[in-house]
Amino acid sequence: MGKKNNMGGGSIFAAYMAALPEQAVNSVDEEKYLPDSMKASTLLEQIGAERSWSPRDIERDVAILDRNRLYTIKDLRILSPQSWKEIELLPIVKDLLRQAVNPAVDYYKLKKEKKKAKKEKKKRKLQEKQLKKMEKMNLKDRDDGVTNDNEQTTSAGVDAGDSELSETKQPAEGLVTIHKAGKEKSLKDKDRSKGDGDSSSSSSSSSSSSSSSSSSDSEVEMEAKKPKMSASQLPMLKTPGNSALLPGPGRIQPMGNRIRVTAGNGTTYEVDRYCPHKHVDLATKGVVVGNTLYCNKHNWAFALDNRGYCSKHGATINACKVDW
Ligand code: FES
Repeated sequence: MGKKNNMGGGSIFAAYMAALPEQAVNSVDEEKYLPDSMKASTLLEQIGAERSWSPRDIERDVAILDRNRLYTIKDLRILSPQSWKEIELLPIVKDLLRQAVNPAVDYYKLKKEKKKAKKEKKKRKLQEKQLKKMEKMNLKDRDDGVTNDNEQTTSAGVDAGDSELSETKQPAEGLVTIHKAGKEKSLKDKDRSKGDGDSSSSSSSSSSSSSSSSSSDSEVEMEAKKPKMSASQLPMLKTPGNSALLPGPGRIQPMGNRIRVTAGNGTTYEVDRYCPHKHVDLATKGVVVGNTLYCNKHNWAFALDNRGYCSKHGATINACKVDW
């Protein structure tokens, strides 16, 4: 034969070497790759023959190589990974070709490693996501705890402020709860009924400040002991024409599924009655501070002068201006 039979580098390489004249064989190092000038179709035919592919399949694959202008081994060698991806050959054909032109690169191993890295990346991402979720939940729990504390301090503040409230006839602009409004209203009613029953005592109470203050003090104590009146128990306001009955800042008036709230700027707004967060009744849990209506449950703040929008949580109670 005059050809070297014990060539290394696999059967394809051996077959190629066997096809070369002896001189050429000697010039090619055994351990080197297939020569650049070798025809890509020859390589494909040899691979196909080794694996008993049908001549039709081989022909089709050769046609694909030709269509992509891959005529020599060099053409295959310089092909980028992206180009390999885009060739319409079957994955196994691609792998075998690549392996043959670049035997030093273990594409199977490479693929496996790539897959593994992808899996690990996915796992890491999932872990990060879970960690973030847990952090968020912890933060929320902490927020809720703070809100509950605030709620407790607010209600304590309301109790402590009852005595001050009885001294002022008109509520000051600022924090006024519905409980305060209810108490004030009932105190006024009591005063009025007292005045009807006994005119002399009422005149004396209005003229002499010392006696009236002492009697109002005892009333305030009694009122403090009484259970708090909710907004839903408040009497409905009468004719809008009567300015004496118009609500002052901080007043909340339930109207079915909506409530009327008078803000610190003196404007009355109609808003949704139930908090968009946990559907708490704002007629009882609502607190007006300036132009903001706070839900006392978790302190969501709704800007009455901005359509009742809670910018922190992206929720609204659909506030619109009304003439009382
Ligand atoms: S129910 Fe949570 S803020 Fe109103």
